[in-house]
Amino acid sequence: MSAPSPLASEVAISPGDFERVRRLIKERAGIHLQPSKQSMVQGRLARLLREHGIASYGALLDTVERNGSPLWQPFVNALTTNLTSFFREAYHFPLLAEFLKQQRGPVRIWCAAASTGEEPWSLAITVLETLGTAAQASIYASDIDTDVLRTAQAGVYPMDGEKGLDAGRLKRWFLKGTAANAGLMRVRPELKRLVEFGQINLVHDPLRFQQPFDVVFCRNVMIYFDAPTQRTVLTRLHASMRPGGLLFVGHSENFSAQSDLFALRGKTVYERLAERNAREPECIR
Ligand SMILES: C[S@@+](CC[C@H](N)C(=O)[O-])C[C@H]1O[C@@H](n2cnc3c(N)ncnc32)[C@H](O)[C@@H]1O
Repeated sequence: MSAPSPLASEVAISPGDFERVRRLIKERAGIHLQPSKQSMVQGRLARLLREHGIASYGALLDTVERNGSPLWQPFVNALTTNLTSFFREAYHFPLLAEFLKQQRGPVRIWCAAASTGEEPWSLAITVLETLGTAAQASIYASDIDTDVLRTAQAGVYPMDGEKGLDAGRLKRWFLKGTAANAGLMRVRPELKRLVEFGQINLVHDPLRFQQPFDVVFCRNVMIYFDAPTQRTVLTRLHASMRPGGLLFVGHSENFSAQSDLFALRGKTVYERLAERNAREPECIR
């Protein structure tokens, strides 16, 4: 009796198909996957093959390559890395609070890689703790990944493992689940009122905002982009912000070389400069 043939999702991705994945995700989402990520990519795409009953990585990529493919979004969602937490890189939040106190009139904040929502909810908590519950502020939270956006918008999290939140904040800003929801917590309506969610691909989507932002949090996403793509995104962020506004980036992201657009004002915090002497963004397609 011959051995049963392995499921497609158990077969190793070929080097050629891995290169196709790298090219596709770079072209469309700007994400530069390191060659060392082959087994991570295989694991993540194997789940897609199983879920969609697709016979091989090649067949999946043929479908994804077609414009308008319904598999494009699940493909992106599978390849993004969404690690985040409440009050991650906590030193940014007192700086934000100081900035908020100096503002006159409504404050507009964009959280540009919001992942599962812990970051925009942390921003909303900071706004209300600094300006009070009648704060004139709005937070727009976006991400390319539609799965994480659903979680972010629901604002429901497991109660354990929320290390960034102390007991006082947990009590003040979250409702504790009971009965079937025991072990879960939900953000309070005061926070929900401040935050609006939407999908934005930072590399390609048109950024049509009615007013420029005073503050942009774009943390731990540009680390996945190569230098020309970072330049493109920074140029787009610059165009979406008002002069004097603050850009907060991740702990290992350094944009001091982009001194025509932003000036360093603190640990991974940049001020949006008024005059732009910029080169045109480099073509990344
Ligand atoms: C590691 S998480 C960072 C989350 C949060 N900003 C933080 O620092 O905790 C990176 C997020 O960037 C998103 N992302 C990746 N490429 C993107 C793109 N081209 N446009 C918008 N978001 C993107 C991913 O979906 C992911 O949720």
